[in-house]
Amino acid sequence: MATTPHHAHWSSRWTFMLAAVGSAVGLGNIWKFPYQAGLNGGGAFVLFYLVFVFLIGLPVLMAELSIGRRAQRSPVYAMEQVAREEGRSKYWVLLGWSGVIGGFLILTYYSVVGGWVLAYIAKATLGFSGFDADTSRAAFNALAGDPVEPVVWHVAFMAITVAIVAQGVKAGLEKAVKLLMPTLFVLLIGMVLYAAVAGDLAAALKFLFQPDFSTLFFVTTIDPVTGTEIQTFTITRVLNALGLAFFSLSLGMGTIMTYGSYLTKDVNIARSAATITFADSAVALMAGLAIFPIVYAVGLNPDENVGLVFITLPIAFGQMTGGAIVGPAFFFLLAFAAITSAISLIEPMVSFVEERTGGRRPNIAVLIGFLVTAIGLLSAWGQTNNLLGDVSVFGVNFMTAKGYLTDNIMMPAGGLFIAIFSGWFISRKNAMDELALNDGAFRKYYFLVKYVCPVAITAVFVSVLFF
Ligand code: TRP
Repeated sequence: MATTPHHAHWSSRWTFMLAAVGSAVGLGNIWKFPYQAGLNGGGAFVLFYLVFVFLIGLPVLMAELSIGRRAQRSPVYAMEQVAREEGRSKYWVLLGWSGVIGGFLILTYYSVVGGWVLAYIAKATLGFSGFDADTSRAAFNALAGDPVEPVVWHVAFMAITVAIVAQGVKAGLEKAVKLLMPTLFVLLIGMVLYAAVAGDLAAALKFLFQPDFSTLFFVTTIDPVTGTEIQTFTITRVLNALGLAFFSLSLGMGTIMTYGSYLTKDVNIARSAATITFADSAVALMAGLAIFPIVYAVGLNPDENVGLVFITLPIAFGQMTGGAIVGPAFFFLLAFAAITSAISLIEPMVSFVEERTGGRRPNIAVLIGFLVTAIGLLSAWGQTNNLLGDVSVFGVNFMTAKGYLTDNIMMPAGGLFIAIFSGWFISRKNAMDELALNDGAFRKYYFLVKYVCPVAITAVFVSVLFF
């Protein structure tokens, strides 16, 4: 194994697990999953999301971890090296590049939402007493539409992220993650229980878990001339579910490959990947269960879009006893979860530039952080009623456009090529050695990576072109 001499390693399997779960669990689970489930019609979408997570996400996660660990280098060099060792085209390196750039692009809007979370820590300390659907929505719209406040928090969010990355992922991340990830988990359970008692649990369960496939495959529009409802067949929502599965597991962009590169040989990749996948989808479902009972109890709509979490939860915090403590604690832990994910989004690019130039990590981190912050202004100002709110890219605002490009195109495409590379271009023997699985388990993995992932992802892509 060609190991770069100074390449760091996690201090134990446990710290790797926490860092990987820290990367996976973030705004994707707690902000994006609920609002996407709301926009895409609920049950059937959630079912597809879960199927994609386990049938496609889990094998791709294992594949990414194996490539990273085998090469012990950042994604660009990892792809270059493994392709060379397997006697394959040097163009596989492009996959590493797309990850470095994709992580960067995601972070330019991720950090704006992270900034909203920071803003809500401050707001939660002042309390949300008396918040109802209208006041809460107005408060969120006032924040998102303000030209200055979200920018200040976006800068703060990036500054914290950069400060940690500058110290190196290991030193910066391990300590914090050990305490705060488990705390977030416990707090979420508490919020689910609260919502079950205080909210409309039955309506939430029905929305999240009773699949109505017509909501997934058909969108309803009103004919402007005749006023009649038109049902149009669509695959876009299936692609949204696929994109969300990749997003919430941090896949297809080299993030997990980078984390795999800090792994030692004795870690069981399959078992770790399964744990990460379970923890990640559990957090998404818990977030849904904490939010939707409140949505129905206070007369909000599931399709509040990007504001859903920020509008719904303050109402609950305003009503519950101890809300003045639980509220700030929740947003603090969410901010923390978002930061551990943001770190993993910027890390592939930072470690690449570090390996490439031999430059000092703190300088590189600051420079890249600065670029992300600058481009991120477009996402902050592109919100409805904000400075660039009227500017549209393909009919949507900047943040939505970047989200579509990264989640629905780059990530599934990245996952597709990682699956193809791992299934068809790495020799079976090498794949088996790296995963160290027994025959039966390996055969299942190989079948998924080699056939199921490429066929399923391609099928979704191709059908979206037609519908
Ligand atoms: N998974 C993270 C979340 O759910 C976001 C994230 C971190 C990510 N690293 C990634 C998404 C790499 C795609 C690729 O919030």
